[in-house]
Amino acid sequence: MLPGIGAVRPWADPAVTSIRRLPLAPPTQAFASIDDARAADPVDAVASRWRRQLDGRWNFRLFDHPDNVPATAVTRAPSGAKWQQVAVPGNWTLQHVVDQRNTPDLPQYTNVAMPFPGPPPRLPERNPTGVYHRTVKVPKNWLKRQVVLHVGGAESVHAVYVNGTFAGYGTDSRLASEYDVTEHLVAGVNRIAIVVVKFSAQSYVEDQDQWWMGGLHREVYVEARATTRIVSLECDAAYDVEAGAGSVDVRATVGGPAKLRAGWTVRTHVETLRGRRLGTPRTSEVPHRFWEINAFTAHVATSTFTYKKVDPWSAESPTRYRVVAELVDPNGDVAEVHRQLVGFRTIEVRDRQFLVNGRPIWFFGVNRHDQHPERGKAVTTDDIRSDLLAMRRHNITAVRTSHYPNDPRLLDLCDEIGLYVVDESNIESHAYNTSLCNDPSYRQAWLERIARMVQRDRNHASIVMWSLGNEAGYGDNHDAAAAWVRANEPSRPLHYEPAVFHDGWIDGGLNASDVVCPMYPTIDDIRAYGDDDLGHRPLIMCEYSHAMGNANGSLADYWDVITTTPGLQGGFIWEWKDHGLTTTLPNGRTGFAYGGMFGESLHDGNFVADGLMSSDLQPHPAMQEVEWCYRPVTVTLLDDHRIRITNRRSFTTLDDLVAKWELRVGGEIIESGTLDVGTVPPHASVSGPLPTPAPANRDAQFAIRWTQRRATPWAPKGHLVAWDQVELAPPAQFGAPTFVRFDSPGDEPATFDTGLGHDIRPELTVFRAPTDNDGFKLMPELTERHGVGGTALRSWQAAGIDRTPADDLVEHRHDVEAGPEDSVIHHHEVVVPDHLDDLARVGVTFELPAAFDRVRWYGRGPRENYPDRNRGAMLGIWDAEVDQLPYLVPQEFGLRTDCRWFEFVRSDTKAVVRLDVIDPASLHVSAGRHRDSELYAASHETDLEPGSTLVVHVDVAHRGIGTAACGPDVLDRYRLRPGPYRFSYRLTPRRR
Ligand code: GAL
Ligand code: MG
Repeated sequence: MLPGIGAVRPWADPAVTSIRRLPLAPPTQAFASIDDARAADPVDAVASRWRRQLDGRWNFRLFDHPDNVPATAVTRAPSGAKWQQVAVPGNWTLQHVVDQRNTPDLPQYTNVAMPFPGPPPRLPERNPTGVYHRTVKVPKNWLKRQVVLHVGGAESVHAVYVNGTFAGYGTDSRLASEYDVTEHLVAGVNRIAIVVVKFSAQSYVEDQDQWWMGGLHREVYVEARATTRIVSLECDAAYDVEAGAGSVDVRATVGGPAKLRAGWTVRTHVETLRGRRLGTPRTSEVPHRFWEINAFTAHVATSTFTYKKVDPWSAESPTRYRVVAELVDPNGDVAEVHRQLVGFRTIEVRDRQFLVNGRPIWFFGVNRHDQHPERGKAVTTDDIRSDLLAMRRHNITAVRTSHYPNDPRLLDLCDEIGLYVVDESNIESHAYNTSLCNDPSYRQAWLERIARMVQRDRNHASIVMWSLGNEAGYGDNHDAAAAWVRANEPSRPLHYEPAVFHDGWIDGGLNASDVVCPMYPTIDDIRAYGDDDLGHRPLIMCEYSHAMGNANGSLADYWDVITTTPGLQGGFIWEWKDHGLTTTLPNGRTGFAYGGMFGESLHDGNFVADGLMSSDLQPHPAMQEVEWCYRPVTVTLLDDHRIRITNRRSFTTLDDLVAKWELRVGGEIIESGTLDVGTVPPHASVSGPLPTPAPANRDAQFAIRWTQRRATPWAPKGHLVAWDQVELAPPAQFGAPTFVRFDSPGDEPATFDTGLGHDIRPELTVFRAPTDNDGFKLMPELTERHGVGGTALRSWQAAGIDRTPADDLVEHRHDVEAGPEDSVIHHHEVVVPDHLDDLARVGVTFELPAAFDRVRWYGRGPRENYPDRNRGAMLGIWDAEVDQLPYLVPQEFGLRTDCRWFEFVRSDTKAVVRLDVIDPASLHVSAGRHRDSELYAASHETDLEPGSTLVVHVDVAHRGIGTAACGPDVLDRYRLRPGPYRFSYRLTPRRR
């Protein structure tokens, strides 16, 4: 039994949120001098003689239940073969450890379901419990101070032991817990044990859609802090838009174990990051007369600074300042120096607008988890920085920390790089969605999780809203916590999706949410909200455009409505990155695992892979559309052939961008130049004539590309930030071809010899390897039982479309005629019967030898695009290698829409097969290594064998992609309706 707590089992009691835990404060370090404070790294803690980082290898034992942990496992020094080793920070679930019965504890992925049966607070019989053990050397002089053990994060709850004695207990896997361990320490070697219990009553409020993984996933350290010190430095900075003035309220709370004498002061000043002071320092006394009845509040020294002129903070120009606070003892000596970086900015919700520094902003957002394919929930500064820089490269400027306070370094980096943050507390009770939020035994958990997040994070300029959590119903516990935030830190609006989900968008959940922040609404619904005048809150979608597999259809359609409807300000795409975990898969290969691949029977499959980025941070093709929709400047063609340039930024001009224009005819650039647009103020538009007269030719487009004039932290000089292309003259439409009937039985199928050693036999096809949005091929029960996901796949299966030759399903006439230069012209006429509504495609497929390894085309590109996801794909002449499957679960990929011609190229012999589109003016084409049937049959990217052919599709119509995996399915206008489809193209073989 665990010493100290084994008999009371706090992990089983939702009401016990901590034992002997110190209050949480904004992370701060004490320095000896102002110079040291200035020089310190603003993100990572600096080495100091008063601090020992305990990250690295720890001794480790796993047990199958907290009751089965023998006391000696924490009281005695580890010895013997039972002790294994694991990395801290890390998840033991990824580190090949076994419990006392030799059973491993592996990751398990569930979305809504709890991994064990309830009801709360019932716990499972097998409850993996890890005992971490290591030593730390404590110098003698530390013992005169207060030594604090910092546990950055443990899933789900943890208890700490020092030299065998119980020293504290903490909950909330995503916020740090700190304990005063001084009395348990001796000079010299000390033994620290941390027991982490994987499932607890708290797990019911940590039921987020992600892997369940035990471990100490954030940093652990001990620090010897002064017995009288600044325990918390709160800096509330604000910006006065009218005056251009800044102010900062600084509250230094002095505390520590020593009794505070009279005469301590705090001397504070504000300076630029270069160290130039703004005005003179202020000295304020630390109130110490504890006994003063009705008057004493706390040992808090406050000072308020106002400056007539400051540079405000915004994501566009993230200027920061440094607040420096010196604690001065009664003798006048500086005891310690602390610093906090601040940004002057003001957030308001007013007139149905979300305003930063008085101006509306667009939320070009994504949802982000702390997640790494090898380290699990333990992320490094580099991991976080890589995420954020990649976001900025793709014009993403807002992050929701779904669904818990992220590693605190994320906030420092968002302050620095410039991203708006919705900071979310670690509360999700999805499986018991609407009950726990009214349960008094969980009230303390609610309050603590929300209040402690605010206590930790309040100094960050980047945070623009406090989120009360995710998918946890809406109840009294929320209102209680909301009241605490409104009293304690009212400068940011509150954000809570279920408040508006359960109580209505118009005036529901006002206590808990100052914004209407729905998830996955339809375009029609958000438009209606904006157009009707009842709601007074801005609408910012906390989740939309679910990025699972081939996804994000209609993203541009959302933005058309967002930017033209009052009250709408954008949202956060779900989600940033796939959560695949690198492992040896059931098929024996190494790859990214999704749910079920660790042998777990209860799981939600590949629903965990729904990011814009792959698990190892490669952009999925839809990122092309995201960066276009989120571009900071747009260009439109006006009726009179003038162009309008609109700056979508809120605070800065476009002067940092170089505008180059180009005129294309038939895909070729025939003229280009640089455009001087003058200064375009934020949120303003300018218009002017085209820099060149529109040509009389058909098929002409005019484009402007905006590139970075200078390097930024996320991209080099010349990086393409934004572009728009407008059509000046549509391509010529050929007349309807004359059809020769070609359907008498016994006729040869239409083939032609390329002269390159193989035949091309275009075959009709109306199916595609289903995308995750067409339906969940691996988890049909998710749709059947829970109504989640797209239904197209199900109806295709029911109609036999996935297994019947297309020619048996639809009427098809295929005529061929000889064309010039050994070419063959193909004419197809297809009639889709009424009962086959909503097909995947109408087109043909043929194969070429695998040696055809490059493609060149005139159409949309460069990356894959689909009819409802191609506004971010420019029309041009592109040249590329044949696409590799970009998705974890094999599915349709690689289409290029609006192609006028397409060439399949052998880079060895330079032989080419060229496809010229005859009718209509363009067709959609893809070329990949796998047949649809192979993609359909496979369940993981590593199941695919390297293809032995090049599989080509040529489609006259292709269903949009939509986001039905979680959200609206394909809009009507991107669906295929019954009726006639005709198309013609010419195939020409060419040796070079
Ligand atoms: C939302 C939820 C997310 C995630 C998403 C689907 O309902 O908030 O955590 O589950 O759906 O991927
Ligand atoms: Mg959920």
